[in-house]
Amino acid sequence: MEFREVLARRQSVRSYNGTPVTDSEITALLKAANASPIGRGLYQNVHLSVVRSKPLLKQVAAIAGEAFGDPAMDPFYGASTLILASCVEAAATTVGLANSACMVENMHLAATNLGLASVYLYGFIHTIAKNDEIVRALGVPKGFVPVAALAVGHTDKTLAERPLVTDKIQTSFVD
Ligand SMILES: Cc1cc2nc3c(=O)[nH]c(=O)nc-3n(C[C@H](O)[C@H](O)[C@H](O)COP(=O)(O)O)c2cc1C
Repeated sequence: MEFREVLARRQSVRSYNGTPVTDSEITALLKAANASPIGRGLYQNVHLSVVRSKPLLKQVAAIAGEAFGDPAMDPFYGASTLILASCVEAAATTVGLANSACMVENMHLAATNLGLASVYLYGFIHTIAKNDEIVRALGVPKGFVPVAALAVGHTDKTLAERPLVTDKIQTSFVD
């Protein structure tokens, strides 16, 4: 796909079918994440977990559902795979959060390029962040905290191109 088309097709998808993401697709997403800009090049301060365990995703969804007061809620919208970005605790509200956003967005665009559906996730993180047992079960190393995630999978929806515009974000020109 041309870069322009990737940008125009990227969108948040909130409906997934059960088709799994292949290992080679996961590798492509991880390459995209590893190509992200990371503050001061401190790659050791960020971490990714590829979570494909259905029971674990269900368990996390149940915790989030309870926290949001909606037990039927699925923060992953049925996506088969969650890629969780974590960072060192000390940077969780600063550069680590920014680094994780870069990694997730790179993967979001790479997923679009592969014809996969995906969505940036943040809301559910707070419902599990203090649950050490779940956080460790999600493959997050000690001393790291989860700060962002990408749900990725396949959808039955058509992911049409959207117009690329300049008026969604207010912009000042300073000449
Ligand atoms: C930092 C951040 C947090 C987000 N958190 C969530 C989330 O928890 N759940 C969700 O469904 N979408 C989430 N989104 C997706 C946004 O709602 C979405 O990008 C926005 O509505 C624009 O739609 P678009 O991505 O289709 O262009 C998040 C996006 C960003 C950048």
